Amino acid sequence: MCGVMGYTGPKEAEQLLLDGLFALEYRGYDSAGIAVLDESAHIKMVKRLGKVQMLSDSLKKKPLHGTCGIAHTRWATHGVPSERNAHPFLDCSKRIVVAHNGIIENYADLKTELRAQGHVFTSDTDSEVVTHLVESMYDGSLVSTLRKVCMRLEGAWALVAMCSMEPGTIAVARKGSPLVVAPTPEGAFAASDLTALAPHTSDVIPLTDGQFATLSQDGTVTITTIDGTVVEPEPIHIDWDVSSATLGGYPDFMKKEISEQPQALSRLLASRVASGTVELDELSMDGAALLNINRIYIVACGTSYHAGLYAKKLIERWARIPVEVDVASEMLYDEVLADEHTLCLAITQSGETAETLLCSRKLRRMGAKVIAITNVLGSTVATEADGVIYLQSGPEVSVASTKAYTAMLVASALVALFLAHGRGLMGSGEIAQRLAELERVPAAVAEILDRQGLAKEAASVFEGATSSLFLGRGLNSASAREGALKLKEISYLHAEAYPSGEMKHGPIAVIDKGYPVVFVVPQDDVHAKTLSNMAEVLARGADVVAVASDGDAEVLPYAQHIMWLPPTAEWLTPITSAVYLQLMARYVALSRGCNVDRPRNLAKSVTTE
Ligand code: G6P
Repeated sequence: MCGVMGYTGPKEAEQLLLDGLFALEYRGYDSAGIAVLDESAHIKMVKRLGKVQMLSDSLKKKPLHGTCGIAHTRWATHGVPSERNAHPFLDCSKRIVVAHNGIIENYADLKTELRAQGHVFTSDTDSEVVTHLVESMYDGSLVSTLRKVCMRLEGAWALVAMCSMEPGTIAVARKGSPLVVAPTPEGAFAASDLTALAPHTSDVIPLTDGQFATLSQDGTVTITTIDGTVVEPEPIHIDWDVSSATLGGYPDFMKKEISEQPQALSRLLASRVASGTVELDELSMDGAALLNINRIYIVACGTSYHAGLYAKKLIERWARIPVEVDVASEMLYDEVLADEHTLCLAITQSGETAETLLCSRKLRRMGAKVIAITNVLGSTVATEADGVIYLQSGPEVSVASTKAYTAMLVASALVALFLAHGRGLMGSGEIAQRLAELERVPAAVAEILDRQGLAKEAASVFEGATSSLFLGRGLNSASAREGALKLKEISYLHAEAYPSGEMKHGPIAVIDKGYPVVFVVPQDDVHAKTLSNMAEVLARGADVVAVASDGDAEVLPYAQHIMWLPPTAEWLTPITSAVYLQLMARYVALSRGCNVDRPRNLAKSVTTE
């Protein structure tokens, strides 16, 4: 959803900003731009359509010199992807430049007003109004002007601005879109996400909504509120493993991140399981409070929503608490029945998804306790929640979530076990047994990685297809949904998911000779039922792929390709089957010539509704 970056200090800004944009590119990659203040305080700017690499290539031919600059990578909302609509934007006098991530909802009114004042617009974006507002309201101080400008804006923003009148100064503002700043000996930085700052510092300051900051050339940062009150910074320390955000020999980040799952899951388990018990201090409530939870709302979008579907089934099965789960964009506008006995689980890899944040805020206002399950340290959801369960998957760069998804499933299982134990519904012996089962998952995932040839073979059934169906039952109906989403996201092939039993109530009509159908059919209590559904599609000529348990001879007659799951407890098959479905989606996407890390039209962090 766009990435912004700013730097001022003693060093040349161009390369630092470009490196930052490369790190932020997962947020949007349809165009990119950079503006640098040169020695004589003139703004020099280059923008290019396409990925950050295009911008970088242009700059190689004609570099920009200067030690203060801002940059942007875009995911189009208002105005098509084009050089003209790429950020940053200059004002009419070419002395002020601003980059924006977010959405200015009242831009049309502001544009009319500014046009009447004589301002000339050069783009179709909502964002450009900010530059002209700064121009029209400039009071001699960029940050003070930005405060006044923000009072006139409606919507969400992370803004970075600089001007010829105050060389060496960058002013930034945040409301609703993430922004972190960092004072360092080598200059002051601002960026949409802390990963862009990893090479420069381990201490970053996430701004909170309504905060402003001034970045100065001596590397200092001053944070203020809307009325100019100086705020004591609250830095967070990050133990970076910078190599985790690089390809490290893999052909793409998706492959790397799929391959990292055994280690990522082990890390999460090691931090939460000790001596046969689950440690979730975030949920620390005494027995009475745990017993008093009478409803759980799970708030999530996309892949995270699928993790929520799994969480619901386990929590209801073990902790006997009714769980409502819906995509946050729906729940946000629904009548929810929350009060102080409600627990809200906000599941979001990025911690920044607009609807997930808005919906968890709504539940919180109604009295619910909010627990965030997220991968990103210091993300908005993490700063706002009553407790945070970090997924500890390491940076996930590829847009399609893989390792964060399986970690969400593990985190969900831990929450379900914790609640079941706390409510006296599962004794210590059973908890220890379930945890032992869970601890065997990383090895099972590693085994699947060794067998990925099966996923490659299965991918061949999608050759020439224009649509496909993914089916699963029980805990694995969520797996079918996630498998279909993964395929859609990265291969652009239409894929629809249904609970297997529902297939005969409509979707079966699309099945014809050679139509690809994927079944997630481990040996569980609904196994026989799913086999019947497989027979139904086979009878209609479908090409069937199955994800099945090792040694399951019953499944053999019903599928052309089988991805065999190493033995695990039945309730853990959604984790292992997800890995096969990720691998298969990647192979299909590669065979269709798609960029698996940067699928068209998608962004990793969607910060507008
Ligand atoms: C975007 C991504 C999806 C992701 C969804 C939710 O739409 O393209 O892959 O599942 O956001 O993201 P979150 O960060 O909240 O898990």
